[in-house]
Amino acid sequence: MMDRKNFLKCSFFILGIIYFGHPAFSAETKDSCLECHKGLDEKKLSEPAHFSQNDVHVKIGISCADCHGGDQTSDDISVSMDTAKGFIGKPSKAEIPNFCARCHSDSDYMKRYNPNIPTDQLSKYDVSQHGRLNAQGDKKTAVCTSCHNAHNILDVNNPASPTYALNVPDTCAKCHSDKEYMKEYGIPTNQIDDYKQSVHGQALLVKGDRSSPSCKHCHGNHDAGLPRAIYVGNICSQCHALTYELFRKSPHKAAHDKLGIPECEACHGNHKIMKPSDDMLGTGQDAVCVKCHNSSSKGFKTALAIKSSIEDLKIEIAQAKELTAKAERSGMEVEDALFDIDEAGNSLTKARAYIHSFSEEEVDSVVNGGKSLAKKADEAARKEIDNFYFRRKGYVFAIALIFIFSLALYARIRIMEKNKKGGTGE
Ligand code: HEC
Ligand code: HEC
Ligand code: HEC
Ligand code: HEC
Ligand code: HEC
Ligand code: HEC
Ligand code: HEC
Ligand code: HEC
Ligand code: HEC
Repeated sequence: MMDRKNFLKCSFFILGIIYFGHPAFSAETKDSCLECHKGLDEKKLSEPAHFSQNDVHVKIGISCADCHGGDQTSDDISVSMDTAKGFIGKPSKAEIPNFCARCHSDSDYMKRYNPNIPTDQLSKYDVSQHGRLNAQGDKKTAVCTSCHNAHNILDVNNPASPTYALNVPDTCAKCHSDKEYMKEYGIPTNQIDDYKQSVHGQALLVKGDRSSPSCKHCHGNHDAGLPRAIYVGNICSQCHALTYELFRKSPHKAAHDKLGIPECEACHGNHKIMKPSDDMLGTGQDAVCVKCHNSSSKGFKTALAIKSSIEDLKIEIAQAKELTAKAERSGMEVEDALFDIDEAGNSLTKARAYIHSFSEEEVDSVVNGGKSLAKKADEAARKEIDNFYFRRKGYVFAIALIFIFSLALYARIRIMEKNKKGGTGE
C-alpha cells in the first residue's frame, strides 16, 4: 500500500510528466523572465511584467526574450540574462529603432502575423528629423517608444493608444509644447495650443471627426518633418481637392512658385486655421488681399469685385427668404421656393470656394447661377403673396355682398311686416 506522502509524490511526478511533456506546456513556454520580474521589488523591473492583455505583442505570444533576448527556460539569473544566450538587456535610446525594426522591417516575418501592417517604419524614420537627430546621438529626439511606449504597446486603432487619431496631438505635444525641453532647438512650442483652437483641432478633438487632420496628416508620423510650405497645397489638397484645383489654375500659383510665398498658409496660417469669413475678401480691416495688393493693382480691383458679387448674392438670398417666409405665414404653398433658396445657398458656398480662382469672371459665373435661383424663389413667393391678397379681396367682396344682400332682405321683410300690420289695422 502507498502511504499518503508517497501518493502525493507519485501524483506530482505523473502530473509533471503530463505538464512538461505536452507540447503546449513544453519548456518553450516556460517564461522565467516573466515569473522572476513579476516578483521583483523595484518598480522599473517589475512593471514590464504587469502588462495589459491588450498588448499587441503579448496577444500573439511574443515574450520578453523575443525582444530582449536571453534564455527564458532558466531560473538562474546568470544563465537567463547571459549575453552568450543572446541577452541584449535594455537597449539604449539610440538603439531602439533597430531593436524594434528587427521584426518590423522584416516583411517575411511580419506577413506571418499580419500582412496588412506596413514594414517601412524604420526606413521612413531614418530620413525624418527625429531619425537624423537620433543618428547624431541626440538624447531628446523621438524614437519608437516615445510615441508607442516600450511595454503595453496597443493597436494603433485602440482608443487608449497614444497613436490613436484623437491622441496623436497630445503625444507629439509631450515634447513639442514643453518649452524647457525644446529650448535648445530654438523652434516655437505653440503648435498644439494653436491647433486646438483651429477648425481642424475643434473638428477632431471636440466633434471626434476623424476626417479632420492632426499633426501626422501634415507632417507624417514616422517620416515627421516640415512640409515645404511653398508647396503645402499638395497636403491640403488631400482633403480640399476643389479648392486646390482652383488655386492651381489661378494666376496666384505661378506667383507663389516664383516668389516662394507659402501656398494656402499665406492667407490661412498653418496650426491656427480659423473658419474663414467674407470679411477676408474686399478691402476692409480683416481683408487678406490688401496685405499684398495696393489700390492701383488688378488684385485690388478683383478683391473688391469678388466681395461685392458675394454680398449681392447674400442680399438677394435674404430678400427671397423674407418674402417666402411671409408667404408661408399666410398659409401659401412655398415648397418650390424653399428648394430654390437652398440651391442658391449652395451656390454661395461654391462661390466662396471659387474665390481661389482669383478671377472675377469665374466667381461671377457661380454667383449669377445663385442669383437667378434666388430671383426665381423671390418671384414665386411674390406670386403666392399676390394670390393671397387677390383671394382675400375676393373674400371681403363676397362677405360684403352677403352683408348687403342680408341687409336688403331684412329691409324687405320689415317693409312686408309693416304693410301687413297696416293692412289688418285698417
Ligand atoms: C531570477 C530572476 C530573473 C530572471 C529569471 C530574469 N531576470 Fe531580468 N533582471 C532581474 C534583476 C534582479 C535585474 C536587475 C539587476 C540586473 O540588471 O542584473 C534584471 C534586469 C533586467 C533588465 C534590465 C537590464 C538593464 O540593463 O537595465 C532586463 C531588460 C531584463 N532583466 C530582462 C530579462 C529577460 C528578457 C529575462 C528572460 C530571458 C530575464 N530578465 C530573466 C532578475 C531576473
Ligand atoms: C516589444 C518589445 C519588448 C517586449 C516584448 C518586452 N520589452 Fe522590456 N523593454 C523594451 C524596450 C524597447 C525597453 C527600453 C525602454 C526605454 O528605454 O524606455 C525595455 C526596457 C525594459 C526594462 C528596463 C526598464 C528600465 O526602465 O530600466 C526591463 C526591466 C524590461 N524591459 C523587462 C521586460 C520584461 C520582464 C518583459 C516581459 C514581461 C519585457 N521587458 C518585454 C522592449 C520590450
Ligand atoms: C513621432 C511619433 C512616432 C515614432 C517616432 C514612431 N511611430 Fe509608429 N506610429 C506613430 C503613429 C501616430 C502611428 C499611427 C499611424 C496611423 O494611424 O496612420 C504609428 C503607426 C505604427 C505602426 C502601425 C503600422 C503603420 O505603419 O501605420 C507600427 C507597426 C509602428 N508605428 C511601429 C513603429 C516603429 C517600429 C517605430 C520606430 C522605428 C515607430 N513606429 C516610430 C507614431 C510614431
Ligand atoms: C519579436 C518581433 C517584434 C519586435 C522586436 C517588436 N514587434 Fe511590434 N509587432 C510584432 C508583430 C508580429 C506585430 C503584429 C501583431 C498583430 O497584429 O498580429 C506587432 C505589432 C506592433 C504594433 C501594432 C500595429 C498595428 O497595426 O496597430 C505596434 C505599434 C508595434 N508592434 C510597435 C513596436 C515597437 C514600438 C517595438 C519596439 C519597442 C516593437 N513593436 C518591437 C513584432 C515585433
Ligand atoms: C520625445 C520627444 C518628441 C516627440 C514625442 C515628438 N517629437 Fe518632433 N521633435 C523632437 C525634437 C527634439 C525635434 C528636433 C527639433 C529641431 O531639430 O529643430 C523634433 C523635430 C520635429 C519636427 C521638425 C521641426 C523642424 O523645425 O525641423 C517636426 C515636424 C516634428 N518634430 C513633428 C512631430 C510630430 C508630428 C510628432 C508626433 C507624431 C512628434 N514630432 C513627436 C522631439 C519630439
Ligand atoms: C493643417 C496642417 C498642419 C497640422 C494639422 C499641423 N501642422 Fe505643424 N506645420 C504645418 C506647416 C505648413 C508648417 C510650416 C512649415 C514651414 O514653414 O516650412 C508647420 C510647422 C511645424 C513645426 C516647426 C516649427 C513651427 O511652428 O514652425 C513643428 C514643430 C510642427 N509644425 C509640429 C506640429 C504638431 C506637434 C502638430 C499637432 C499638434 C502640427 N504641427 C499640426 C502644418 C501643419
Ligand atoms: C485630412 C484632411 C484635411 C487636411 C489635410 C486639411 N484639411 Fe482643412 N478641413 C478638413 C475638414 C474635415 C474640415 C471641416 C472641419 C469642420 O467640421 O469644421 C476642414 C476645414 C478647413 C477650413 C474651414 C472651412 C470652413 O468652411 O469652415 C479651412 C480654411 C481649411 N480646412 C484649410 C486647410 C488648409 C489650408 C490645409 C493645409 C495646410 C488643410 N485645410 C488641410 C480636412 C482637412
Ligand atoms: C501673400 C501676398 C498676396 C495676397 C495675400 C494676395 N495676393 Fe493676389 N497676387 C500676389 C502676387 C505676388 C501676384 C502676382 C503679381 C501681381 O500680379 O501682382 C498676385 C496676383 C493676383 C492676381 C492676378 C493679377 C494679374 O495681373 O493678372 C489677382 C486677380 C489677385 N492676385 C487677386 C487676389 C485676391 C482677390 C486676393 C485676396 C483674396 C489676393 N490676390 C491676395 C500676392 C498676393
Ligand atoms: C490669397 C489668399 C488665399 C489663399 C492663398 C488661399 N485661400 Fe482659402 N480662402 C481665402 C479667403 C479670403 C476665403 C474666404 C472666402 C469667403 O468666405 O468668402 C477662403 C476660404 C477657404 C475655405 C472655405 C471655403 C471653401 O469651401 O473653399 C477653404 C476650405 C480654404 N479657403 C482652403 C484653402 C486652401 C486649401 C488653399 C491652398 C490651396 C487656400 N485656401 C489658399 C483666401 C485664400
